[in-house]
Amino acid sequence: MRILRFTRSLTPYYVGIMIAAAVITGAGIAVPFITGAATDVVVGAVGAVANGEAVPEGAIRSVVLLALALLAASLVETFVSNIGGYWGDVMSAKMRTILSTRYYEQLLALPQRYFDNELSGTIVARLNRSITEVTNFMKSFSNMFVTMLMTTVAVLAISAWHYWPLAVLLAIAYPTYLWLTALTSRKWQRLENQKNEHVDLASGRFAEVVGQMRVVKSFAREDSELDEFGNHFDRTIALTGAQSRHWHMMDGIRRAVLNVIFFGLYLIIFIRTVMGFFTPGEMVMLIQLMAMAKQPVQNLSWVVDSAQRASAGSRSYFEVMDLDPAATGGTGSLPRDPDHAPEATRAPGTQPAAGRPAVSFDGVTFGYEDHAPVLNDITFDAHPGERIAFVGESGGGKSTIVSLLLGFYASRDGSIEVRGAGPDMSSLRRNIGVVFQDPSLFSGTIAENIAYGRPEATQAEIEAVAQRAAVAEFVAKLPQGYDTMIGERGMKLSGGQKQRIAVARAMLKDAPILVLDEATSALDTKSERLVQQGLDDLMRDRTSFIIAHRLSTIAEVDRIVTLKDGRIDEIGSPDELAASGGIYAELLSLQNSASKADRKRLKQFDVVG
Ligand SMILES: Nc1ncnc2c1ncn2[C@@H]1O[C@H](COP(=O)(O)OP(=O)(O)O)[C@@H](O)[C@H]1O
Ligand SMILES: [Mg+2]
Repeated sequence: MRILRFTRSLTPYYVGIMIAAAVITGAGIAVPFITGAATDVVVGAVGAVANGEAVPEGAIRSVVLLALALLAASLVETFVSNIGGYWGDVMSAKMRTILSTRYYEQLLALPQRYFDNELSGTIVARLNRSITEVTNFMKSFSNMFVTMLMTTVAVLAISAWHYWPLAVLLAIAYPTYLWLTALTSRKWQRLENQKNEHVDLASGRFAEVVGQMRVVKSFAREDSELDEFGNHFDRTIALTGAQSRHWHMMDGIRRAVLNVIFFGLYLIIFIRTVMGFFTPGEMVMLIQLMAMAKQPVQNLSWVVDSAQRASAGSRSYFEVMDLDPAATGGTGSLPRDPDHAPEATRAPGTQPAAGRPAVSFDGVTFGYEDHAPVLNDITFDAHPGERIAFVGESGGGKSTIVSLLLGFYASRDGSIEVRGAGPDMSSLRRNIGVVFQDPSLFSGTIAENIAYGRPEATQAEIEAVAQRAAVAEFVAKLPQGYDTMIGERGMKLSGGQKQRIAVARAMLKDAPILVLDEATSALDTKSERLVQQGLDDLMRDRTSFIIAHRLSTIAEVDRIVTLKDGRIDEIGSPDELAASGGIYAELLSLQNSASKADRKRLKQFDVVG
């Protein structure tokens, strides 16, 4: 029902397919009547000739007409079934499109937390299976449902008209068979789910391995990865064995039951014909009718089977569709701009404040999942145009502050205000240009990657930022220049080249807030100096958050925030903090020290002198 509601625009197709099926069934039901009538004519004529009489008048004409009626019924079936088949194909293509795009739309809206816990290959495998099973079911169901209903009713009515015990036996056969099928399906389905889990896990790992082939090869783990993959699939063999044994055993039982019931039906028909209650024509008609009666029984069980499969498939589909994109897991709030708040939520009489900070963290506490907080009571303001650096140990929560600022996670406590952030996340994110710690590029050309945040940018604009981010320097050496394909996630580039493209991408976005999370960590000193110049230009008149990896960069910011054990330790200008004896002062002294212990301590901060 939910799938139907979900794909309401396909209703004309469902109806069309059902009408086609009804016409086909009607033509099918006519056949036993026609052959039955022909049999009576033939038997009459044969009897007359055997008695030495002439062929009865009109007998030939009757059988010719009846044969023509058979031809008409078959032609109707031929044509209408092809029209219905065409509708079915179009319907399933449309359904696949609707279900896939809605799923993608939902995934794109889901909070980061969802992706932290899922393998991308698993997401894809699950989507494909769900959609295939649901689509197959809907197609066959709309094809079969009316046929089954009409055939069942017709067979029951006609057999009841001729001799009621036939109808009684059939009425027993249907529900018995259905019940046995439902029994079979339940266990079958449970095993199917276990099988799918293995396939999903294997597919998830598969995609991950393909994406990180260098790591796999360099650690010589090809064999063990293959083994693990094989193990998952081996497990499905055993499960399939159990599943198939069960299914075939149950199928044997239910078909045997059906055979016995049909034995009774045929026995009744034969004996009553011999006793003269049925004419030979009626007998032929009834026998054909019984053969038709078997079909809906078997179809029905097929529908039960595939319905259960589709319902399992649609369950995992709807599980994802039911996730609330707004539920970011935290009890706290996402970044917002109080001045963009609807009038009703702003305190009466308050005006948008002038000279407000561009970004303000107030008592922000956050932890991933249910773990201990990574950040505790983080409070600071960043004024428009200010450059703020974050310093703290590796794993100290610097990148986490960036994630919170971008609204990837909701804080547990406290609030984050970002000037210009609307109620939806995309308006917040439009205000922020970011260079992530891991450059994360896409397959495609260099130009496409630089323009990712502004696809409408001109080639001249792209080249201008490429110049400032020292991308132009290496692009000049590439035969295809900006049209060079860089491979999945930028695989064909060096770490430093990727980072420079990521910097250019953020530059082109031209947002009022700039976040640099170790944006130049993979660069050599020379190119770092080049990029740094571009970044210095860019940071002018922009509120900037810098997680720097070089102390000389940090020395030039307006304020430094040092983090210790998830809390803010100090906030102050580089000069103030150099003299305060805190973390920053310690780093400064460490970089000038030559002792091994000091070098080691420095490493904990991801910082170089
Ligand atoms: N997506 C995540 N899920 C769970 N824990 C995470 C996630 N990202 C980071 N962490 C943890 O949060 C802590 C802070 O990480 P991070 O902010 O990346 O540190 P930094 O950038 O200062 O080196 C680390 O202990 C890390 O293990
Ligand atoms: Mg980090």
